[in-house]
Amino acid sequence: MTITTVLDPRWGESDPTHDPYLLANFKARPDDVLITTAPKAGTTWMQNILHQLRSGGDPEFYSIDSVVPWLELPRDGLSHTEVLERYSAIQSPRIFKTHCTYEQTPGTDRVNIIMSSRDPRDCMVSFYHHIMDMTDEVRARGHFSQIETFDDVFHLWMEFGAWYRNVASWWPHFNDDNLLWLRYEDMKHDIDTCVDRIIAFLHWEVSPTQRLAVNEYISFHWMKANADKFVRNSMGEPVFKPGGFIRKGNVGDYKQKLSGTQEQQILEKAKEILNAECLRYLGLG
Ligand code: A3P
Repeated sequence: MTITTVLDPRWGESDPTHDPYLLANFKARPDDVLITTAPKAGTTWMQNILHQLRSGGDPEFYSIDSVVPWLELPRDGLSHTEVLERYSAIQSPRIFKTHCTYEQTPGTDRVNIIMSSRDPRDCMVSFYHHIMDMTDEVRARGHFSQIETFDDVFHLWMEFGAWYRNVASWWPHFNDDNLLWLRYEDMKHDIDTCVDRIIAFLHWEVSPTQRLAVNEYISFHWMKANADKFVRNSMGEPVFKPGGFIRKGNVGDYKQKLSGTQEQQILEKAKEILNAECLRYLGLG
């Protein structure tokens, strides 16, 4: 496999969760499915929904990352070539998750893309619990040990700005034929209709019996009871303490945590960055 080593800046900077070399050298297939989300917007739920639909119902998989890998994640002990060879060996249809912007995502002209968005106020609060529920070892490795209070996490989330970057970059592609945009809030309200839309979008065949199994395995209850499948990293270690990560799954949980000022700051920044139609669609306008 020949690897491009001189990188176009479009693929972004290297960091512990973003390897631009993987993005620059990824060979997309037309039947690939990429799940794109801002962190905490229901990524893992969507990974599991797609894995369950593709398999016709599979309660036995070891970890979600092993069946629906995180595309741009550097893998300890593996070179780019080895990671890309692993990707090439996966049978079609492959499914990946990504937190990349539209510009950083490979194959946007070919692959099927499913976007899951979520109210930024709930994403922020979910991110706070994400940090707090990490095992001490993983927290230290991610340089989060100094982050102690809700306000610390709030500032980090605002400064990092992943939610804003992600939504702003994908919004102009809302009507692209190869993109299906689903809102977490709609999935909570009526998951059956959302799953029907996914099946129709991908033209996958799912029998009524398989659909019953899928419904069970994508429920919050099943995912919480089988949380170990969703909290292992690529090395198989648990990243979160028991009870963390598949946490509450509620809409409007932010009301318990955000101050009025913090809520205003989140909404003001959204209004600066997103157009009125996008804000209305997201329920923020
Ligand atoms: P909360 O922290 O609000 O509970 P991501 O996978 O993008 O990190 O998102 C994690 C959020 O999705 C968490 O939200 C988690 O509880 C929620 N989630 C995971 N599985 C879910 C399911 N089956 N139904 C509803 N929400 C789910």
